[in-house]
Amino acid sequence: MKKNHWLTALIGIIAMLFLVAGCGSNSSASGSSKGGKVTLGFSQLGAESQWRTANTKSVQSAAKKNKKINMKFSDAQQKQENQISAIRNFIQQGVDVIAVAPVVETGWETVLKEAKDANIPVILVDRMIKGKNVDDLYSAWIGSDFTKEGRKAGDWLATYMKKQNKASEKLNIAYLQGTTGASAQVGRTKGFAEVAKTHSNWDIIEKQSGNFTREEGKEVMEAFMKSSGDKINVLVSENDDMTMGAIQAIQEAGKTPGKDITIISFDATNDGLQAILDGKMNADIECNPMSGNDVMKTAIALKEGKKVQKKVYVHESLFDIDNAKKNMPRPY
Ligand code: AHR
Repeated sequence: MKKNHWLTALIGIIAMLFLVAGCGSNSSASGSSKGGKVTLGFSQLGAESQWRTANTKSVQSAAKKNKKINMKFSDAQQKQENQISAIRNFIQQGVDVIAVAPVVETGWETVLKEAKDANIPVILVDRMIKGKNVDDLYSAWIGSDFTKEGRKAGDWLATYMKKQNKASEKLNIAYLQGTTGASAQVGRTKGFAEVAKTHSNWDIIEKQSGNFTREEGKEVMEAFMKSSGDKINVLVSENDDMTMGAIQAIQEAGKTPGKDITIISFDATNDGLQAILDGKMNADIECNPMSGNDVMKTAIALKEGKKVQKKVYVHESLFDIDNAKKNMPRPY
């Protein structure tokens, strides 16, 4: 072979080696440690509440700030079928990690098995899933203990009644639930019911879903007021958006929220704590949406093949008239 042919062949081999190395850094399990970005597909369940908007912002801004992350975002508009298609799209695109805030608990086995078969780790955000062997289908979960939140609501009510020497007064409770089958709804309903069962003078006389939205919260509360407005003296509402709608319905029915009807809500948004200061709401159980940084850290660790904590509970507190003011403004 002539000298210049040897040179051409050598350049060809070097170019091939570069190409192979480049492909490897995009698709191998240790891509990010080799300098490539981690592509994260995030399926958010919707934009039904102020809490949800804060959660989306937390994840988006953490992704933007993190130089190792390239995030693809999809909003499912509260529909599980949209989340399933988004996850399938992420699999097709070959993302490195998938994060999903599941709208309901059940029905995820098939699509998460597809992600597993494609070797794409899954992070659950905020809500939990349930079903046969689902624990093997996700690598990490970052969210709230909703049953504990529900218990906190019940315990707060018991203490509040006791403080007023009204522990044995008959409580006719109206209960506004979140999206039916969402782990946030299932857990809160279960936790509150556990406490309610231990008080023979507590009666849940109305219970219906307001789907975590202000509009539906108002509609359902209007119906509650029509059928039992003269009896209801407690409202438990599974998020602040529904509570804001319910407060309006109570006022329109001629009652005073926070006085005629003791109101306990969840989320602890700015609006929620302001309602406490205005005397229209009595307690707000915090649900923390600021999980963005934890999601990014977990996604990077998974891509780098590191072991991650399977369940991470976000820190949460409770607010009432004793501490609402000093905790304002809230970040959401
Ligand atoms: O899953 C968390 C819940 O979902 C929040 O309480 C609610 O506001 C949201 O829509």
